[in-house]
Amino acid sequence: MKHCTLTIMSIALAAASCSDNKPELYKEPSASVEQRVEDLLGRMTLEEKVGQMNQFVGIEHIRAAQGSLTEEELHNNTANAFYPNTSIEDVESWTKQGLIGSFLHVLTVEEANYLQSLAMQSRLPIPVIFGIDAIHGNANAPDNTVYATNINLACSFDTAAAYAIARQTALEMRAMNMHWTFNPNVEVARDARWGRVGETFGEDPYLVSLMGAQSVRGYQQDLNGKRDVLACIKHFVGGSQPANGTNGAPADLSERTLREVYFPPYVKGIEAGAMSVMMSHNELNGIPCHTNDWLMTDVLRGEWKFKGFVVSDWMDIEHVYDLHATADSLKEAFYQTIAAGMDMHMHGIHWNRMVAELVREKRIPEKRIDESVRRILAVKFRLGLFEQPYADVEESMQIRLNREHRSTALESARNGIVLLKNEGNILPLQAKKYRKVLVTGINADDENILGDWSAQQRPDNVITVLEGLRQAAPETTFELVDQGWDPRNMDRGRVALAAQKARSADLNIVVAGEYMMRYRWTERTDGEDTDRSDIDLAGLQNELIQKVAASGKPTILVLINGRPLGVEWAAQNLPAIVEAWAPGMYGGQAIAEILYGAVNPSAKLAITIPRSVGQIQMYYNHKPSQYFHPYADYKPSTPLYPFGYGLSYTTYRYSDLQLSKTLVSAKESIEVKVRVKNTGRREGVEIVQLYLRDNTSSATRPVKELKDFARVPLKAGEAKTVAFTITPNKLAFYSKDMRYGVERGEFTVMVGKSSRDEDLLKQRFVVR
Ligand code: BGC
Repeated sequence: MKHCTLTIMSIALAAASCSDNKPELYKEPSASVEQRVEDLLGRMTLEEKVGQMNQFVGIEHIRAAQGSLTEEELHNNTANAFYPNTSIEDVESWTKQGLIGSFLHVLTVEEANYLQSLAMQSRLPIPVIFGIDAIHGNANAPDNTVYATNINLACSFDTAAAYAIARQTALEMRAMNMHWTFNPNVEVARDARWGRVGETFGEDPYLVSLMGAQSVRGYQQDLNGKRDVLACIKHFVGGSQPANGTNGAPADLSERTLREVYFPPYVKGIEAGAMSVMMSHNELNGIPCHTNDWLMTDVLRGEWKFKGFVVSDWMDIEHVYDLHATADSLKEAFYQTIAAGMDMHMHGIHWNRMVAELVREKRIPEKRIDESVRRILAVKFRLGLFEQPYADVEESMQIRLNREHRSTALESARNGIVLLKNEGNILPLQAKKYRKVLVTGINADDENILGDWSAQQRPDNVITVLEGLRQAAPETTFELVDQGWDPRNMDRGRVALAAQKARSADLNIVVAGEYMMRYRWTERTDGEDTDRSDIDLAGLQNELIQKVAASGKPTILVLINGRPLGVEWAAQNLPAIVEAWAPGMYGGQAIAEILYGAVNPSAKLAITIPRSVGQIQMYYNHKPSQYFHPYADYKPSTPLYPFGYGLSYTTYRYSDLQLSKTLVSAKESIEVKVRVKNTGRREGVEIVQLYLRDNTSSATRPVKELKDFARVPLKAGEAKTVAFTITPNKLAFYSKDMRYGVERGEFTVMVGKSSRDEDLLKQRFVVR
């Protein structure tokens, strides 16, 4: 490996003589991006170009992992990285030589500025672009606003909030000298075993598309300057429907399913301007995504006219060789990925040398390398990195965690928490009635409400559920029976203690769910690379709930998790269940405000909650034959809670569903109106949903598909007429011969409060 170091260094030194004496147009902010890119490209050596296509993890990340992992572990480990036989000085030196285009996993503004200062000492000099997984706020780095996770956000159906959160995240990132978020994750989640469900916007292609596109707009705006960051739509594609529920397992998906279900959010993301796409770990129909020229070249660039750059996922080009085995060497894997359309390698030491060799050997034309480098440099120019390579350390904390950002975090958490059950209107809790409350469960007083993709944050920036409860009901005595944070190592004695204390409490609140904090990578039960073969509560959590409920005192369940949990016993036996997902830094406050009624819950499920793992895959927009035959074990074929479902402290009545026309041509739109009345005594926000079904079609169509929705605020007693437009593109699909268009025949419009048939008003119309 030292040999490799020296090789790269000497090549770079040789390169130093390559520049000419033309005026340095690329340094002129007044020149166009295209002019600057061409000017700079013309000055670069092959080694510098190949270096622009490569990422490294930050030096502090290397320092932390150094010595603790073998090379084999590195390949199998998605949380850590280091470079065997490579010193931090080597990485610093390559940066100074302009041989590294990007860093990831840099967690402080000081380190980012330092690495950038090295890059700015390079021959040309070209700034590095810093990428980070800012999935719900720049939460992986300490001291940033931690918003609720994407699945919670999706349950708010609030696309404006998706935009606002992304915008604020962009500002916080730039305040840390971070320029590129590996978000939004626009995968359509159809398998609750998969640990990454919580970082998606759920199961519906339309909702995922809108949330994803608004996130892209919020991050990037017009990607023109110092307040914007590059968005990355990921992972392309199919990883959310893995063969066995585990991350990176093969996906076998027909072109029809890809085009109908999995592709639309990418199309919308690219239309919104997304300038980077990350490929997916998995193979798709037998070809690893990372060498899939159909995906990267034909579809992405050919059909969708994507102009940005494609980045590999973590060590996945390596896996083309050492896992998928469709390349017989690492160098061959690099060849295959570039030939298929890859632009940037995440991450490591072998790329520069091997790719330069492939060009010298004439296997890869240098002009192919130029294409990738152009795309990467164009983004660096657009982001203003050449003009502003550093962030102001002094100003950084004025932007991060500012009051406006904190209040968005709180508001969005409130809007994404779903009330699943409320028997006998036990909620909102009456503080006068329940003076003594037992609080227990692994998530009762833990920062785990921050969710996956969050570092530990300062305790005073996190409001746990217990803290939230104490704020919300200061007169009430809350007694905590701690169950530890670890569902897999719960103590039966603590469970028994909670059961005993429950008897003398007026009410019990069990805060259960999954454990997601990534700094305890191998101990968690939910999150990236944390897939499960079961979707019930892990460990002794069910036992805890049942024993506490056996006290005879009212017991309510609050869930903190990313994947849907099949909590059937609780659904049948407890009076109230609140699904909070990972609600972020103010999650405890938001939950308590809902429990005590300061906030009226409005969220609806963006994903189906199955009863058990055996029901997977279960999603609302299934084909007509999906449940033709019942399960022979007499278990129901219905979900525990359906897509679009969620309760409120008020009630809504839907009536007068009207269509402007019932006979239209394939080019005409139809206006749909429905009257929605708040029939209860509280103000609320109702998420009105419109579904469509194509009743007869040349290829099978889902029993219903979400095509529009509206968040409608309604005062007690107030009624509003909500209008939607069904445009022809909402009726279009891929026909039997894969032609996209509208077929003649009858359609059903369904409008109501959830995807459940009994919650929907229906009308028909005909396309002639
Ligand atoms: C994940 C990506 C992420 C990357 C960098 C990978 O393990 O699959 O989503 O962006 O790591 O952290």
